[in-house]
Amino acid sequence: MKKDISFPKDFIWGTAASSYQIEGAWNEDGKGLSIWDTFSHTIGKIANNENGDVSIDHYHRFKDDIHLMSELGLKTYRFSTSWPRIFPDETGQINPKGVAFYDRMIDELLRNQVEPYLCLYHWDLPQWLQDKGGWSVRETTSYFADYAGFMSDKFSDRVKNWITHNEPFVTAGAGYFIGEHAPGIKEPISALKAVHHLLLSHGLATQAIRAASRQPLKVGIVLNLSPVHPASSFKKDIAAAERFDIIQNRAFLDPLLLGTSPVQELKLLSALVGSVIKPGDLKLINVLDFLGVNYYTRTVIRHDPKFPVFSASQIHPEGNEYSGMWEIYPDGLSELLLHIWGKYGPPSNPQQKMPEIMVTENGIPVPDGVDFDGRVRDERRIRYLENHILQVHKAIQLGVPVMGYFVWSFLDNFEWALGYGQRFGIVYVDFKTQKRTIKDSGHWFADVIRNNGFKA
Ligand code: FCB
Repeated sequence: MKKDISFPKDFIWGTAASSYQIEGAWNEDGKGLSIWDTFSHTIGKIANNENGDVSIDHYHRFKDDIHLMSELGLKTYRFSTSWPRIFPDETGQINPKGVAFYDRMIDELLRNQVEPYLCLYHWDLPQWLQDKGGWSVRETTSYFADYAGFMSDKFSDRVKNWITHNEPFVTAGAGYFIGEHAPGIKEPISALKAVHHLLLSHGLATQAIRAASRQPLKVGIVLNLSPVHPASSFKKDIAAAERFDIIQNRAFLDPLLLGTSPVQELKLLSALVGSVIKPGDLKLINVLDFLGVNYYTRTVIRHDPKFPVFSASQIHPEGNEYSGMWEIYPDGLSELLLHIWGKYGPPSNPQQKMPEIMVTENGIPVPDGVDFDGRVRDERRIRYLENHILQVHKAIQLGVPVMGYFVWSFLDNFEWALGYGQRFGIVYVDFKTQKRTIKDSGHWFADVIRNNGFKA
């Protein structure tokens, strides 16, 4: 017999997206260049040399897209704003057409009873700031705070939930360490600096958002967290997994939730800490109303001296199910939520006011297509989402106050270095005609929202 899997009364169900991945209009209405424009226009950086110039043209189609959300009964939408649409160049002059775009978009969301979660940074740094050193220089943090304050002044009358950063681990790691994302830098020291400056900019931006706010609001950050498992029970693999856990998870969770930095624990990096982390920084960073957790997969790590700095590399265990990008490992989601709550929440820190936790991204790429009868039968995605939502439910049952769950993504879109090859949407997009088709998973998720749960 199937059991009722139901969620707390005010549980937040939503979907997520980001500016560069969906907007297109890369050079319209006064927008400045972002590092992703530069990067994707560089031959050899993106699969098939694709780019987000047009993407799924959300800039022009946002009204229809929001109507589709409302048709599906989606009540919450997490999106990001493009910083170079607002501040196109280093003069600091505001681009009124960029502001007007988000103004119209937010109004349209509210008209359709969709609550906006506004994320200020989902990787599209203005190119003019990269030219000054980007996240590897400390000055970028105050530019970010200015941008955050401006946005709060403009939009906090209508937007109550703010996110400073999406996945600073990826911003720093993929952008400055392995160079697979914009700006394509491969310098471990710059990456380490970027980690700290991203966190510091979160603290400064939070202050700025609050200072300019027009009503009580919540400010959070979104981290991509992943339980790190050792590849074997050999001591070296266990130690390598612990090192990797520092950089993947603790380098962000500890400063944000405890006001401490675990970086000293990595011998090779400890010397750096004093020069990058200034007195008072950690206290500034330690502010959070909610923690967004993006979960896709676990990370299995072995000792590997060839890998710079951490002597650790990732393996993909045999015998498990994989998607086009990652191992499918639903159990990792409850493991992660329980771990965060146990380590950083009241169970071990009675004094600590644990911010709200929510799952701000979860999803799977599936090579979907429209069938002869116009349907998109993405069974695999439904199975993936169901299995992960079950793990959220389990964590709630075990006492973790998870407040919400967002599917990545609403529409198929530009998947960074992988171009248009990985479809994550619950709505299919024909990239040539821009036609949208609700996938079976879209209808399924609409039912989940309507029933505040499902039978499993
Ligand atoms: C996350 C990103 C998001 C999307 C998904 C698949 O790391 O935040 O933009 O690319 O992965």
